[in-house]
Amino acid sequence: RKIKLVEVRSEIAAGTRGASLGIDALKIASLDKKSNFFTKFTPINVPDANSFLWKGNKHPHAKYIDGVYQVLKNVHSTIETLRLNKKFPIVLAGDHSTAAGTIMGIKSANPDKRLGVIWIDAHADLHTPYTTPSGNMHGMPLAMCIKTDNLECQINEPGEETIQFWEKIKNIGGEFPKVSPEDIVFISVRDTEEPENHIISKNGIKNFTTEEVREKGVKEIAQQALSTLKDCEQIYISFDVDSMDSSISVGTGTPVPNGLTVEEAIQLNTELIKDKRVCCWEIVEVNPTLDTENLMAENAFEVLEATTKSLVDNY
Ligand code: ARG
Ligand code: MN
Ligand code: MN
Ligand code: MN
Repeated sequence: RKIKLVEVRSEIAAGTRGASLGIDALKIASLDKKSNFFTKFTPINVPDANSFLWKGNKHPHAKYIDGVYQVLKNVHSTIETLRLNKKFPIVLAGDHSTAAGTIMGIKSANPDKRLGVIWIDAHADLHTPYTTPSGNMHGMPLAMCIKTDNLECQINEPGEETIQFWEKIKNIGGEFPKVSPEDIVFISVRDTEEPENHIISKNGIKNFTTEEVREKGVKEIAQQALSTLKDCEQIYISFDVDSMDSSISVGTGTPVPNGLTVEEAIQLNTELIKDKRVCCWEIVEVNPTLDTENLMAENAFEVLEATTKSLVDNY
């Protein structure tokens, strides 16, 4: 499979500034580890929204949604083109809202292929402007792609302009929805709010907890995740670095305890990516401004390098 590295310096959808520097932090980590990883690829840069332009926020329940909309359109069209050319995108992004653009691109390149998503994250990222506790849109990418049916959990009254942008976002790259809830698998999700729990239990979305990963072993969980998606013809893997334990993921905006170790994250991703249906892998949410030692990026880089190697070796 022909790998293409995609860089998206997104950050306006996170609650803390700095995730757009995550890609460069990964590059510094690769130098410190004397790796030639980044010399092997000529990356594509997806234009992001310059965070300095988005100071005045008009959308309290979907912050900077006008900018997020633009970035997602850019991600969508880049990924769509790569997939039409049968490339395997490895996406390095800042805040996790980009994952929706990636899904939209995969889907519009192959609208008839059933798409499964493996979401490795401390969070479910299933919020909408109606349910978000923070207004941060990196908590919303999956809800941009599936039907959420939890209006009884509404806590916000988003304005009309916010809703217009939200509807436009959901239809980037073709008709909403892009994925059905039964085609989502969570791994290590452990910090969710009630409106998200509602969607998860109503639709029976599978979450393999950190404890389960440890009990049954990473290989077994990878197999179970893939067989949950047995009817999907293509699979996208989204790796949010906050899936790793807060002791190692200090350099990310929303760290959470009881997460994966670096070794578990490496074994999990290298195992999953062997499945020939996997067509795209994404890593997000490294924020070096929160991390004096660049430890987060070093750990994340290890996962990136090992996963890419597994993809190449198992071609
Ligand atoms: N659920 C929380 C929120 O909506 C946290 C989301 C964190 N998402 C992430 N991609 N780090 O604010
Ligand atoms: Mn997260
Ligand atoms: Mn309000
Ligand atoms: Mn996330």
